[in-house]
Amino acid sequence: MKLRLPMLASIGMAAALTVGAADNVLNVQANKPGAPIQPTMYGLFFEDINYAADGGLYAEMVKNRSFEFPQNLMGWVTYGNVTLQNDGPFERNPHYVRLGSAGHNDKHTGLENEGFFGVTFKKDQEYRFSVWARSPKGEKATLRVELVDPATMGETHVAAKQEITVESADWKQYEVTLKPGESCEKGKLRVFLSKPDNVTVDLEHLSMFPVDTWKGHKNGLRKDLAQALYDLNPGVFRFPGGCIVEGTDLPTRYQWKNTVGPVENRPVNENRWHYTFPHRFYPDYYQSGGLGFYEYFLLSEEIGAEPLPVLSVGLACQFQNRDAKAHVPVDELQPYIQDALDLIEFANGDTSTKWGALRAEMGHPAPFNLKLIAIGNEQWGPEYPEHLAPFVTAIRKAYPDIRIVGSSGPDSEGEQFDYLWPEMKKLGADLVDEHFYRPEKWFLAQGNRYDNYDRKGPKVFAGEYACHGKGKKWNHFNAALLEAAFMTGLERNADIVHMATYAPLFAHVEGWQWRPDMIWFDNSDSFRTASYYVQQLYAQNKGSNVLPLTMNGKPVAGNEDQNGLFASAVIDKETGEYIVKVANTSDTPQEVTINLNGLKKMRQDITAATVTTLSSDDINADNTLDNPGRVVPVTKAIPAADLGAVTKGVFTYNTTLAPKTFSVYKFK
Ligand code: AHR
Repeated sequence: MKLRLPMLASIGMAAALTVGAADNVLNVQANKPGAPIQPTMYGLFFEDINYAADGGLYAEMVKNRSFEFPQNLMGWVTYGNVTLQNDGPFERNPHYVRLGSAGHNDKHTGLENEGFFGVTFKKDQEYRFSVWARSPKGEKATLRVELVDPATMGETHVAAKQEITVESADWKQYEVTLKPGESCEKGKLRVFLSKPDNVTVDLEHLSMFPVDTWKGHKNGLRKDLAQALYDLNPGVFRFPGGCIVEGTDLPTRYQWKNTVGPVENRPVNENRWHYTFPHRFYPDYYQSGGLGFYEYFLLSEEIGAEPLPVLSVGLACQFQNRDAKAHVPVDELQPYIQDALDLIEFANGDTSTKWGALRAEMGHPAPFNLKLIAIGNEQWGPEYPEHLAPFVTAIRKAYPDIRIVGSSGPDSEGEQFDYLWPEMKKLGADLVDEHFYRPEKWFLAQGNRYDNYDRKGPKVFAGEYACHGKGKKWNHFNAALLEAAFMTGLERNADIVHMATYAPLFAHVEGWQWRPDMIWFDNSDSFRTASYYVQQLYAQNKGSNVLPLTMNGKPVAGNEDQNGLFASAVIDKETGEYIVKVANTSDTPQEVTINLNGLKKMRQDITAATVTTLSSDDINADNTLDNPGRVVPVTKAIPAADLGAVTKGVFTYNTTLAPKTFSVYKFK
């Protein structure tokens, strides 16, 4: 029998103090801290998909800035006398344009860039335009650089204008700042040859960035997007993919050495996602390499996450290449292995080494302290361990402290998965990367997925995962809730699950290929999905050690059996907090009692507590650009008066979890 006291209005989520047993009693063994929660838990997976890099995080506003797309003038409109040349100053990007006299006073020569889904500029914000230029005959040439709104294209409606004078016959970089007097979503950047118009000028690498970037880095990252990464408190940062590591074929694989050194000389690479899905076809999707491996390492450092680079194992995307000839024969893997060894040197090597020196030259003499490397993405079949083996041997020999991440293929279970785990164990991989994009019922059933994993094998890296409902593979609150429920199992198995990163990070609302994603954006704004907030709640409340937990005297089932409740508990030894996470996936309110047992020896009272809740009045809802605050966590203090005394070493808290709710309780 339950003796119910009046509702506690101060805790909005229908909290009630009960005496006696609630339907669901969570017993936390507060005095028995178990496995440490790894600092790498709850991280980020970045892939240049959905215009996540060029057109997204990398704040470059000019598309095809070096005229190196296969259709060299893609993204540009030319006027008057513009010709394409191919003997420019940058060896790996040889194309540039020559602007000559249009031959008539009233005809103008110049070009216009469409940007990524428009050149979006805001009133009174500053934009840094730069260009490499020369006047081949050493004549004085003046360039007019403008931000225009195509809807109001006339001279008087130019939003910002600057002039650049080019006199040198040598290639030099010129720079001006544009400050528009009006805003425009779908603007254009124009560069025209002006007075006098009978000269010739050559232009290469036309680039424009907002001056206000993440941490003020010149020509750096979009501030709101990088800030969202930082705010999540990530433990690990996996980059640069995903399938783009493999490429559609080997020539289009991601090659890190092409993404370091001066940006002007980083060759453009085809982004494999431009044609992967015919219904989401983006023929202008290329990688400038401007967001390269130096920038990834720096970003990892700045957001406080361990960098986790993924490199090609010499297998082109196996979904698209069933023929063995598409891959590198094992006895020809040496250049790929060398790439991996050189990458470690680039990240960690002394500045007297070749690659360490390049890192220093780029601005970071101190090592990046790389500890992890993944070889291969979603590979499968016997060819994967065959290809991986020589990498493992070479990396172990040169860098015994580097931890190697292998893969269990593209599926969360099944033949390949069952084959690859033991193979990874045989090879001595330190961690195995698992991927699962699965429907709701899978997530509802998998909360105890890791309870019975081999404790003597590699550790688990849940490297890509997301829940989606049938027919609606996009983000919505219920998917986020089920991810939260599933993640209690990651936390309870902290001894074996050492890293976890959600599905792709970013998606441009006008240019996505893949959903769900964690953060959506357009050129001006961004919003964090409910799934982002789930990841953030875990990352901000990960504690230091897992605590043993039972529900009604039984192990936590990790499925719907226990009234749809999923739970985990940790202690944060530094702050002295006990943190209990509970997801109510059911359609009914659930009375819950949380008992913190064994407090006697450690402390007398719980004097402060909060509950942070993520819920939604519509389980299909999520945040949007127009309403980024539709589903956000709400933190409330639990009044001290509602915290009972510790009796015989047990602190008890009774509450009711509303249907479809994820709550994080913190007791101190
Ligand atoms: O995240 C999108 C793709 O999903 C990744 O590139 C791949 O690893 C997975 O199949």
